[in-house]
Amino acid sequence: MRVLGIETTCDETAAAVVLREPDGRGRILSNEILSQIADHAPYGGVVPEIAARAHVTALDRLIAEALRKADCRLKDLDGIAAAAGPGLIGGVIVGLTAGKALALVGKKPFMAINHLEAHALTARLTDAIDFPYLLLLASGGHTQFVAVRDVGDYVRLGTTIDDAIGEAFDKTAKMLGLPYPGGPNVEREASRGDPERFALPRPMLGRPGADFSLSGLKTAVRLEAERVAPLTLTDVADLCASFQAAVVDVVVDRTQAALRMHRESFGSPAALVIAGGVAANASIRRALQRLANQAGLTLCAPPPALCTDNGAMIAWAGAERLRRGLVDDLAFAPKARWALEPRAGTT
Ligand code: KG4
Ligand code: ZN
Repeated sequence: MRVLGIETTCDETAAAVVLREPDGRGRILSNEILSQIADHAPYGGVVPEIAARAHVTALDRLIAEALRKADCRLKDLDGIAAAAGPGLIGGVIVGLTAGKALALVGKKPFMAINHLEAHALTARLTDAIDFPYLLLLASGGHTQFVAVRDVGDYVRLGTTIDDAIGEAFDKTAKMLGLPYPGGPNVEREASRGDPERFALPRPMLGRPGADFSLSGLKTAVRLEAERVAPLTLTDVADLCASFQAAVVDVVVDRTQAALRMHRESFGSPAALVIAGGVAANASIRRALQRLANQAGLTLCAPPPALCTDNGAMIAWAGAERLRRGLVDDLAFAPKARWALEPRAGTT
């Protein structure tokens, strides 16, 4: 089964073709991506209007390139999948419309994919893991623990009550004068800093439930930065290292809590999976690897290029849905907000 996937919900324009073997294994035949980071960098964050225009400009070429590299034509595909949200609505409309148009012209099944579901299912593409598993999805816009029980069966166990983890990295970077996107830059600075120089809070540690709260940590970084200003390169590195160490402690504590919740409600998960841009962070990966070892679980951390936004994850989610007959109507409307679990909120 070969599915084309289109991703345009944020600042990455992406198209990919993924093959799903009869035994359920996945293979990426092509995975084209164009990052708009340079377009947004002068503004210190993603500008929705610039993103939408950039998607319009780049998408056709990326789709053509994805098909060419996968050595297939429209007629060879078994389905077309496009991210239909949640995300910046202008961009979502661009990718969704392109996907619908191709499905209409090629008379192919169409799958409108929830971007979060695509992140959630990526570990099955990369590692062929079984349900159920505990997912920590941590990106610039989302922070959630999800019990992934089956395709389309997700239970949210925790989320953030204020900032997303990636957002905390991005805002910390901005405060310290580091370029956008903040995550990789904070991580790089942290690698040469002293994580113990600044005593930063660890919000929510030991609290019931598995929710995060990160705005207090961000404020604490700002206050420390103001206290020692003007900042030297060493100050910046030490602040980044102290911030990252606090985030790691919080992530570990909250993951232990989510794991307990998973065990109580659904039994032991088959694996602990991390996804979203923050999963690219090596310190967080290392800490979760230790936690998984202690808990006797497999940690599944897809390669960084598949943790951040990409087309292959949309194509794969499309293939998983297509196999189950979960096909959508071409009238499917784009959604700026779209919770993974119907009963959950929208964070
Ligand atoms: O999943 P993603 O590409 O896009 C969405 O937000 O959906 O995630 C991007 C986020 C940004 O906030 C970025 O700063 C963060 O992931 N990020 C990182 C790292 N790489 C990306 N955060 C911490 N450490 C990293 N190495
Ligand atoms: Zn994402």
